[in-house]
Amino acid sequence: MAEPFLIGQDMTGGYGGADILHSCTIAVEKGEIAVIVGPNGAGKSTAMKAVFGMLNLRGGHVKLDGEDITRLSPQARVRKGMGFVPQTHNIFTSMTVEENLEMGAFIRTDDCADTLAQVYDLFPILKQKRLQAAGELSGGQRQQVAVGRALMTQPKVLMLDEPTAGVSPIVMDELFDRIIEVARTGISILMVEQNARQALEIADKGYVLVQGANRFTDTGKALMADPEVRRSFLGG
Ligand SMILES: Nc1ncnc2c1ncn2[C@@H]1O[C@H](COP(=O)(O)OP(=O)(O)OP(=O)(O)O)[C@@H](O)[C@H]1O
Ligand SMILES: [Mg+2]
Repeated sequence: MAEPFLIGQDMTGGYGGADILHSCTIAVEKGEIAVIVGPNGAGKSTAMKAVFGMLNLRGGHVKLDGEDITRLSPQARVRKGMGFVPQTHNIFTSMTVEENLEMGAFIRTDDCADTLAQVYDLFPILKQKRLQAAGELSGGQRQQVAVGRALMTQPKVLMLDEPTAGVSPIVMDELFDRIIEVARTGISILMVEQNARQALEIADKGYVLVQGANRFTDTGKALMADPEVRRSFLGG
């Protein structure tokens, strides 16, 4: 079988103390949606950071489109086509919406006006609020700024750590619809989600992480149907 478009394989490592990740593997195919779920403290964000190059791995490797990028800095990974929206502190609150989006395009030397227009098409409310400080926006709107910011580099793969954290169910559904829309353009989505059921419903592939290790890996559909996954991780 061909290698996934992006894979963090057998990742082992942590923040300097004891290992947090134990031979953890996370991958996403081109244009597909992969979702990571699991209890608080399972290492979901740590796995995302490892894939993005923010963690020194003691073991394992990260490959993008067949190339080993394990030793690359996060900045270099952005240049290779990776976009990352962290779980916290993912926008500049004192800057305007538009300044946030422009900051997102920092590595680009070409004109990014078309991409800005695309982001505004995807999230019309941001166009309306483009001159407002991002810190004045609602939780759901801020997450749109964060996702839009990451799209400004025209990534091939978009990594989202809990994009729907703190938003209402309706806003969550809307955000998921936009994420599906992004995936349909051929961009791979690797995301962590606390709303496990809803996320697995739209996932091509799902990962259940527990204590820094893979507990279950399957299609989103199969995980949703697995009695043990349901009982232990989806609330029955
Ligand atoms: N910067 C850090 N320095 C040291 N330890 C950390 C750091 N960040 C996280 N950890 C530890 O790593 C473990 C995994 O944390 P992580 O944030 O990856 O979990 P998570 O699955 O994303 O949880 P949540 O669902 O709450 O976001 C935890 O035990 C946490 O205390
Ligand atoms: Mg987390």
